[in-house]
Amino acid sequence: MAESDSAAVQQRMRPGELIIPDGGFWPAPEIPQPNIYPMEWRVETEKLAAIYQKSKLMAWNPADLPWDKLRAEDFSTEQRLGIMYWFSVLANFDASGPAVFARATIRAFEQHEEDPVRKCFFSITRDEMNHEECCQRAIAALWPGGPLNWLPSTDLERAAHNNIGWLYHNGGRYWNGYTKAVGRYSLPVLFTSFMMGEMAASTLFRGMASGTRHPVFAEMFQRIGRDESRHLQICVTILENEWPGLTDDVRATITRQLRAGFIFLSMILWEPPEGFWDLPPYFLNNHRVLMDHARQAGLGVLSYAEQAENWRSAIAKIRVIVQRWGIDFPAMPELDIEGVDVSADISAEDIIPVF
Ligand SMILES: [Fe+2]
Ligand SMILES: [Fe+2]
Repeated sequence: MAESDSAAVQQRMRPGELIIPDGGFWPAPEIPQPNIYPMEWRVETEKLAAIYQKSKLMAWNPADLPWDKLRAEDFSTEQRLGIMYWFSVLANFDASGPAVFARATIRAFEQHEEDPVRKCFFSITRDEMNHEECCQRAIAALWPGGPLNWLPSTDLERAAHNNIGWLYHNGGRYWNGYTKAVGRYSLPVLFTSFMMGEMAASTLFRGMASGTRHPVFAEMFQRIGRDESRHLQICVTILENEWPGLTDDVRATITRQLRAGFIFLSMILWEPPEGFWDLPPYFLNNHRVLMDHARQAGLGVLSYAEQAENWRSAIAKIRVIVQRWGIDFPAMPELDIEGVDVSADISAEDIIPVF
């Protein structure tokens, strides 16, 4: 604005009276995008608004679980270590949840997504913080200092400590990829990865809730499983809006993302596929030994074959959903699942760490 214009307007200031400049009001400058402004509360998908309201009614507090029933003395040292190890593996996934969805929430504001999308992402962020707190509390009760802030004194303990270090190294690699991907990928691509993570999570916790012999874990897994099913419902509802407008290019990226999701999530649902996770050659062997101790302790870890079956049925559900929208499914030969071979075009940057 010219200084003389400002001066002219100021000269006409009268308390209590409107000023209408000659030639009309001056338009406010355009806001550079992406930006969270202008603030508005547009609702296009009532179903999402309802899910968000329901999420508040279903709220629960991890601190209220009957923690006094989780006593270190009820387990052998190996069993305690096994449980701590499993929760450390889980934390590689669930502890990424709050940051991943917080970032996605900001992205949804910047992209001016409708209000219920932003609110639902916020609620997932909230839930994931609770899931992470469950990992934190279970580990604190059974293995103080875990996952990594303790000194191992036996071979089994050294193996656990070392494996956890390698897992977290990989989690760090994937986080770096995600922080770039969140701006690079369109929302349908991100949501597909989220949907896969939520399908995996709800399947895992449903299986474990039925398998555990401990009341604290039973209640924890039931509640987390219920949250994860709601997250899945959110992702599928959003995708139903997004998918009709997909281009072939985006479809091809989604096929790759599904394979990337399989690589990432198999670590907790089953076992990691070869050649992608950056792990030492002894990792998997020791991982199996430690998982067995967790299994013996009554945590609810399914057998290798049950895990594979569980994961296969979760993937079959994902396949039904994405094929409705003309998206090719990637091959997952590890589980005898046929599809397009995209294994050559995936890098650590493609992995979206979500659960
Ligand atoms: Fe979670
Ligand atoms: Fe989740």
